[in-house]
Amino acid sequence: MRHLLSMEDLDRDRIETILERAASFAEVSRREIKKVPTLRGQTVVTLFYESSTRTSSSFELAAKRLSADVVSVKAGGSSVDKGESLKDTIETLSAYDPAAIVLRHPYAGSSRMLTEWVDAAVINAGDGMHQHPSQALLDIFTLRNRIGSLEGANIWIVGDVLHSRVARSNIQGFQQMGASVTVAGPPTLIPRGIESTGCEVRYSLDEIDSADVLYLLRMQRERMGENFVPSIREYARLFQMNTRRLGPRQLVMHPGPVNRGVEISSDVIDSDQTLISEQVASGLVVRMAILYELLTGRERTGNGSAPDDPVPIGEPA
Ligand code: CP
Repeated sequence: MRHLLSMEDLDRDRIETILERAASFAEVSRREIKKVPTLRGQTVVTLFYESSTRTSSSFELAAKRLSADVVSVKAGGSSVDKGESLKDTIETLSAYDPAAIVLRHPYAGSSRMLTEWVDAAVINAGDGMHQHPSQALLDIFTLRNRIGSLEGANIWIVGDVLHSRVARSNIQGFQQMGASVTVAGPPTLIPRGIESTGCEVRYSLDEIDSADVLYLLRMQRERMGENFVPSIREYARLFQMNTRRLGPRQLVMHPGPVNRGVEISSDVIDSDQTLISEQVASGLVVRMAILYELLTGRERTGNGSAPDDPVPIGEPA
C-alpha cells in the first residue's frame, strides 16, 4: 500500500491487516512506555486546511508514538493566509523530505492530486464530501472490539449523508466487512442514486428497531449554502437519536464533533450504549497502524530512506 486515499482502494484482506496491526498497537498503548522506535528518523507532515480536533491530534500523536519527527501545519495562521497555493505549500514542506503527508482539504480529489507531486506516502484525512478512510477504519476497529464481527450486522447511517465523507467511506468499509447498511435522513440530505453503492435508503426512522448499530452524522451546516431542512428543531424532532427511540440492545456511534441536542441527545451521548469515546481512542492506534503499513519497508526515491527491516513494534523506543 503506497497511499491511503479512499476505502475503494482497500479490499477486506488489507483492512484486516491494518486492524490486526492496530490491535498490536493497542497492546503497546497499555504499557507504561507507549512509544516504539519504528519510524525513528522519518518525518511526518500533517497539513489541515479544514478544522479538526480528532484526526489532526491523533495522527500527530500516532506519528510521535512511532518516534517520527512531526511537522503540523494548520492552513489558518500559515502562509496560506498570504495567498500561498497548495502546490507551493507542498513544495515548501517537501523540502523536509517527509515520508508521509497527511492532508485534510475541502476539495474532493485533493489527496489524489498530491500523489502526483510528492514522493511521500499521502494519507487522505478528509477531502471535501468525498472520503475519510481512516475514520472508516477506526469505526470498523471500534465496532469489532465491541461485537466481535460485522458479518450480518445491520448498520443504519442516519442524518446528513449528502455532505458526509464519513458516510461514503463507512458505507464501503462496513459492507466490505459483511455488514448491511441502510442510510436514513430527510430526502434533501440523501444523495440521489446512493442505492448503487449497495445500501438501502429510508426517509424516516419508522423501522429503526431493526438496526443493530446507529451511526449518527452531524448536520454539516458549514457545507450547506441553502436550507436543506425546514429548521433544526424540525430535523431533531424527526431524526434525533434519544432515549425514547434507542432500543436496549442497540449501539450508537458518531464520528464527532457532535451537535448535542440536534442529531443526538445528551443522555444518549452519555449512555454506555454509545461508543464515541472508544472511537476516539481507536483513532490513535488505527492511525499508528496506517503509518506503519505505509512507511515500514517502503522503497523511497527521495533523499531519505525507509528501513528495509523495520524495528519490531514490541521494542520500546
Ligand atoms: N471525525 C473527525 O474527522 O473529527 P475531526 O474533524 O475533529 O478531525
